[in-house]
Amino acid sequence: MSPTFLGLFLAFILGAVGAEALTFPATVEVDLVFPRNDTYAPAALIPVVFAIQNAQLAASLDPKFQFTVTSASDSSNEITTAILDLTNATFSRSDPYYALGYIHSLNGIEGQWVLAWSLSTGNCSGSSDDTVNIGHLNQNTNVFFTTKNGTQPPDLVAASADNSTCAATDDSYTFNVTGTLDVADTIKYDGRSSCAVLSPTLPTANPCAAAVNVAAAASISAAITSTACAWQNPNVTCPSSSSSAAGRVMMFPGIWSVCLLWIGLNFHFWL
Ligand SMILES: *[C@@H]1O[C@H](CO)[C@@H](O)[C@H](O)[C@H]1NC(C)=O
Ligand SMILES: *[C@@H]1O[C@H](CO)[C@@H](O)[C@H](O)[C@H]1NC(C)=O
Ligand SMILES: *[C@@H]1O[C@H](CO)[C@@H](O)[C@H](O)[C@H]1NC(C)=O
Ligand SMILES: *[C@@H]1O[C@H](CO)[C@@H](O)[C@H](O)[C@H]1NC(C)=O
Ligand SMILES: *[C@@H]1O[C@H](CO)[C@@H](O)[C@H](O)[C@H]1NC(C)=O
Ligand SMILES: *[C@@H]1O[C@H](CO)[C@@H](O)[C@H](O)[C@H]1NC(C)=O
Ligand SMILES: *[C@@H]1O[C@H](CO)[C@@H](O)[C@H](O)[C@H]1NC(C)=O
Repeated sequence: MSPTFLGLFLAFILGAVGAEALTFPATVEVDLVFPRNDTYAPAALIPVVFAIQNAQLAASLDPKFQFTVTSASDSSNEITTAILDLTNATFSRSDPYYALGYIHSLNGIEGQWVLAWSLSTGNCSGSSDDTVNIGHLNQNTNVFFTTKNGTQPPDLVAASADNSTCAATDDSYTFNVTGTLDVADTIKYDGRSSCAVLSPTLPTANPCAAAVNVAAAASISAAITSTACAWQNPNVTCPSSSSSAAGRVMMFPGIWSVCLLWIGLNFHFWL
């Protein structure tokens, strides 16, 4: 199968959360919610879902996700590559914040796959304004999953609700944010005006707290379907353009970039 390149930004916004005063130190956690190390039916669209817990501090980390899916037995067989550029995301509107991608090229295809994902974040030091020193941290993880006809369809609720599957902390990163520094020249930090200062300590991950409920799963699925329908030709029922009124699709000029902000859902998180 020829490689497909898909630069994808899919931001998902859930019910608004009230602005809370920031206290430090604070833990921010990034989890891979889906897929897990498990076996799924090879659906037309397989979601790739990351959660950011304590999202109101996410912007200060300037997170970027990238993932590549290859065959487990032949790493040159690349299925999908995606970049989730969250430069313009408004993280503070929901907690957890879900960053979304998908795999559209395993429809009906059985096999074993590696999802290699990387997370890039900032780590600042010095003092606020012009002298702030912006460091970067890149972390990579591989997750193996299998597709097999007749097995469970991809299910975000089941994958994240079951303690035995959600609790694998290998797919989580934690950040101990001890404060933030102002970035005077925001162009140096993707337009962000505040940059996290990180302790070397790594708090214990709590990935089960990023569980996806039924309503969130339905919205994530709708957002992925809507975006995939705009860019690929997946073998799924696509929404008519009028029925996607709850969402707003923003296309950016970059050839590979799609930005979808899903707004106006009125339910809340329990975190
Ligand atoms: C994935 O799960 C299988 C069986 O559940 C296990 O044997 C294997 O070691 C796991 N692989 C990874 C990379 O965790
Ligand atoms: C973010 O927004 C700016 C200004 O609207 C735009 O120029 C840029 O392309 C956007 N970036 C992404 C990755 O969507
Ligand atoms: C799996 O199902 C698809 C159709 O959904 C079919 O094309 C494919 O041949 C099946 N694979 C195997 C190994 O049976
Ligand atoms: C799952 O974990 C939660 C908290 O992490 C706990 O309250 C619950 O009892 C666990 N359930 C099972 C079945 O282990
Ligand atoms: C962040 O940077 C500081 C020094 O600038 C370093 O001491 C600390 O270990 C870094 N934190 C992480 C999580 O990399
Ligand atoms: C976070 O870092 C601060 C300062 O280094 C430390 O006092 C605190 O125990 C750390 N918290 C966690 C959860 O690691
Ligand atoms: C498309 O979906 C329909 C209904 O699920 C199925 O019957 C058909 O085999 C699928 N086609 C392909 C090419 O996967």
